[in-house]
Amino acid sequence: MKAIILSGGKGTRLRPLTYTGAKQLVPVANKPILWYGIESIVRAGITDIGIIISPETGDEVRTKTGNGDRFGANISYILQDQPLGLAHAVKIAQPFLGNDPFVMYLGDNLVQSDLNLFLDDFKSNHLDALTLLCPVPNPTAFGVAEVDESGRVTRLVEKPKVPPSNLALVGIYMFAPLIHDAIANIQPSARGELEITDAIQYLINAQKNVEARQIEGWWLDTGKKDDLLEANRVILDTCADTDMKGEIDESSQVIGRVRIGARSRIINSTIRGPVIIGDDCVIENSFIGPYSSIASDVELLNVDLEHSVLLQGAKITDVHQRIVDSLVGQRAKIVEAPRKPKALRFMVGDDSKVEIA
Ligand code: G1P
Repeated sequence: MKAIILSGGKGTRLRPLTYTGAKQLVPVANKPILWYGIESIVRAGITDIGIIISPETGDEVRTKTGNGDRFGANISYILQDQPLGLAHAVKIAQPFLGNDPFVMYLGDNLVQSDLNLFLDDFKSNHLDALTLLCPVPNPTAFGVAEVDESGRVTRLVEKPKVPPSNLALVGIYMFAPLIHDAIANIQPSARGELEITDAIQYLINAQKNVEARQIEGWWLDTGKKDDLLEANRVILDTCADTDMKGEIDESSQVIGRVRIGARSRIINSTIRGPVIIGDDCVIENSFIGPYSSIASDVELLNVDLEHSVLLQGAKITDVHQRIVDSLVGQRAKIVEAPRKPKALRFMVGDDSKVEIA
């Protein structure tokens, strides 16, 4: 069994962060989203992994993720030169996949469930496709399945205006090689893409064995800021442990589950977990509240912050109001002028959002 992970796309909903980086590399609890998918596939015993990359962000994904050694996997990179759909990605991965059954994993999805049980199910029932489903309050934003009592999928619709159920297709699929025939027989959709939902529907119409299972636990599709902050909260809640590598001076207090990376210095500050702080950070005269992930090389001076994600090299100084629910990009700077400023000065990138609350 092999796996492909889709890590292309333009990440328009996470702009401006994704102008300079791939959305799948945005960190959740200081680890790229994509790596959670790789780890979950490896835990399920699959080590032959193809990552589908785009011309815009492919080099960054490849450089950061490497050949798979760090995961105990063997990773190949497959270039999809145009975003022509999920089924198109499978088509170009065909030389890598050969005649093997495979898992397809969308690189911006995070799930709590282990894949093992579903894989066993897929293999022992000799299925042609197994899709994973999760009830959602807003099914119009996803692919949606209609399922009969025995778990058999009767119909799939992509982003339906009138959803047949509240069961969204999670971005994790298992396929027998028969899916390649289905893809060869479908046409691009109205948005010009070869849709994987259409290929699965083709198998259903041909009376093949297509089934669905509901996942247990949480599923997060990290496409937008609030989804990403929620993913960060859930991961810190379930996975953060205590590990102190940096230096904490005597006038600082560290409470709860907190990780502090190598060479980071905490000076006259309070950190209240769950919080994760990367390497080489300086945090001085500050309060860092629960559900904050601070990447490496971040500097915070006179800052009060909680429930936020700061990317590498961000710098915040002298902000006198509490910063909450924020996502701060790589090397971004937030600096407040002296108290009661007469004017505010900005240099704000395209698609940024600044709220002066
Ligand atoms: C894709 C699929 C959709 C699925 C979703 C899960 O949509 O087309 O069926 O429900 O992933 O994340 P996209 O996120 O590309 O709009």
